Amino acid sequence: MKKRVIVFHRKLPAPELARLEAECAVTHFEQVNQANRTEFIAAIHQAHGMIGASVKLDDTMFAGATDLEAIATISVGYDNYDVAGLTRRGIVLTNTPDVLTESTADTIFSLVLATARRIVELAEFVKAGRWQRSIGEAQFGTDVHGKTLGILGLGRIGSAVARRGHLGFGMPILYHNRSRNLETEAQCAARYCSREELLRESDFICVVLPLTAETENSIGAAEFAQMKPGAFFINGSRGKIVDEPALIEALEKEQIRGAGLDVFVREPLPADSPLLRFPNVVALPHIGSATHETRYAMAQCAVTNLLDALAGRRPPDAVNPEARAW
Ligand code: DGY
Repeated sequence: MKKRVIVFHRKLPAPELARLEAECAVTHFEQVNQANRTEFIAAIHQAHGMIGASVKLDDTMFAGATDLEAIATISVGYDNYDVAGLTRRGIVLTNTPDVLTESTADTIFSLVLATARRIVELAEFVKAGRWQRSIGEAQFGTDVHGKTLGILGLGRIGSAVARRGHLGFGMPILYHNRSRNLETEAQCAARYCSREELLRESDFICVVLPLTAETENSIGAAEFAQMKPGAFFINGSRGKIVDEPALIEALEKEQIRGAGLDVFVREPLPADSPLLRFPNVVALPHIGSATHETRYAMAQCAVTNLLDALAGRRPPDAVNPEARAW
C-alpha cells in the first residue's frame, strides 16, 4: 500500500508532484487556515509524510500522528517547527539548505544597493512624472563600494553575501557568529569581531541569522542606538529577530539612514504598518529565494528528502536525523 503524504503548499512543480505520486497517495492543502484547520489536523493523523512551507505547525498538531515519519519543509528556515517535539515523536524534519544560498544572497545584496542608492524611491519619482530637470543633491544616494559590510550570522547565506560585498564591491567585511568561519575569513578577508564592534563600525548591517529563542528580538533599541547615524540596516532572515517598534523608532529618530527588509514580524506586512511610511525603507514580500529556478530546486530537494525518509534511507538534509533509526 502506498504511504499517505500531505502536500501543504500552493503547488508543487508537476514533475516533482509526479515523482511523489508515483510512490505515495497525496492529499493536497493549498492553504491552511482557520476554516480547514480541523480537517488538516485530521489528515496529519492519517499521514506518513508531509511536505510544504509557510505554515506554523505546533507540537499539539502531531499528538495523534502515530504513523507520521517525516516532514520536508520547502525552506531553509525551520522555525515553524518544534524540533525537539518532533524528535521525541520520532518524526524526522528535513529542510532545503544550499540550493537557495545564492538567490537569497542576491536578494539581500539587492537590498544593500536599493537602500543606499535609493533605487525604489527614485524609480517611483520617475514613474510619477516628477523627473523634470537634472537631479540634484536631494536625490543623491550613498556609495556602496568600499564601505564596511557587517554580517550578523556568517553561515552559508551570510558567506555568500560577504563574497558579493568583498569580491564584487571591495567592501571590508566584519562578522559576528557563534563560531569562526575560517573559509570565508580567507576568501573575503572577513574579520571576526564582537557584536558591539560590528554594530558600531559597519556602514551596512545585514542580519542573516536563523530565528531561535536566542536570536528572537535580539536587535532592539540598544542595538540601533549603537549603529552609525549613516548606517543601513538590512534584514533578510526572519522578522522576529528584530524588535520592530524599536526599528521604527530608530528610523523616526534618524538613528540609521535606512532599512532594507525582506521579512517582518507579521507577514504579509499589514498595509497600515508604520514601516511603509518611510521613503528610506525598502520593503519586499519575503522574496529571499523566490526565483523560478531556486523554488524549483527547493521543491526537488524537499521531495528527495521526503521520499528517502519514507523509504527508510537517511535523507541528505535531515535537521534531526536522531529522530529515527536509519
Ligand atoms: C527560507 O527558506 O527559510 C525562506 O526564508 C523562506 O521561508
